[in-house]
Amino acid sequence: IRSEALDAVQAAADLGALEAARVAVLGKKGSVTGLMKTLGGLAPEQRKEFGARVNQLKGEIEAALDARKGSLSASALEARLASEKIDVTLPARPAAEGSLHPIGQVMDEVGAIFGEMGFTWADGPDIEDDWHNFTALNIPPDHPARQMQDTFYLPPRADGTPMVLRTHTSPVQARTMLNKDVQKRLADGGSLRIIVPGRTFRIDSDATHTPMFHQVEGLVIDRTTHMGHLKGCLVDFCRAFFEVDDLPLRFRPSYFPFTEPSAEVDIGCSWKDGELKIGAGDSWLEILGSGMVHPNVIANCGLDPAVYQGFAFGMGIDRIAMLKYGIPDLRAFFDADLRWLRHYGFSA
Ligand code: PHE
Repeated sequence: IRSEALDAVQAAADLGALEAARVAVLGKKGSVTGLMKTLGGLAPEQRKEFGARVNQLKGEIEAALDARKGSLSASALEARLASEKIDVTLPARPAAEGSLHPIGQVMDEVGAIFGEMGFTWADGPDIEDDWHNFTALNIPPDHPARQMQDTFYLPPRADGTPMVLRTHTSPVQARTMLNKDVQKRLADGGSLRIIVPGRTFRIDSDATHTPMFHQVEGLVIDRTTHMGHLKGCLVDFCRAFFEVDDLPLRFRPSYFPFTEPSAEVDIGCSWKDGELKIGAGDSWLEILGSGMVHPNVIANCGLDPAVYQGFAFGMGIDRIAMLKYGIPDLRAFFDADLRWLRHYGFSA
């Protein structure tokens, strides 16, 4: 029994096999346990002598088990350490870093430039009611300008209010002027200066139009702001944004129902070898619409047009992003192609 048991202990290759060897000897039905069970049937002096020998055998086997257990756990630990070893000299794998989408980046740039001029950032809902998107802005229900903007009409709200996906960021002009805190600030002699970057929607799709696009609206209201302020503000903005100090701008008379007078603004540019260069040149690119806020709009928004005046403008963020960063196809903004985003994206 001794040599069989000790051989089994030595032969155990892992902790599981060692436990099996222990059970075979010292378990309920084990060989040594079996010997102990025979003690009861022996004469007293035989029992004493035989008992002592069985106990010694048991002790020997237990010692062998302990020793084997110790060496097996040591080598298991060693194996684990070896397999889990970290080579600290390996170069680190580059972490996949996110980056800002060029649209978000350009919104931030626009926000920073107007922020320096004292404008704050405002917003409004993408799903807009017909009144804020059109009527408040001096575009009554049967006005032909409603056909100018290819509107996505939505089912009316439960109370019958006709709803649209906003066709421009201009409804936020109305929402802001109607705000009670804003009206109080104006009544106290203060002024209103906001920009509204956001999503806009029109039924249109080709290389330079997508059904969802982005605009940034600007609105200034106080008692004295005039067309000269509009010009100065937009000249400063365009030169800062395109980073061209002597960038020429052209203010062209235009028409919007919600401004009077209205002007569209072009920036100077030139084409060389099929590549666009922003700056003094022989061509013009239209980049925004603007004008003095129409008195009807001021009145529709609960302010007295005899007291308050100001200017507004709106420009396509996607468009100025394309121009500044030389992006040829507008649709690429919305393809979510990681290679493209890595190329044009900006790390945060
Ligand atoms: N909302 C106009 C557009 O989408 C732009 C604009 C805004 C024009 C504000 C004048 C004043 O075309």
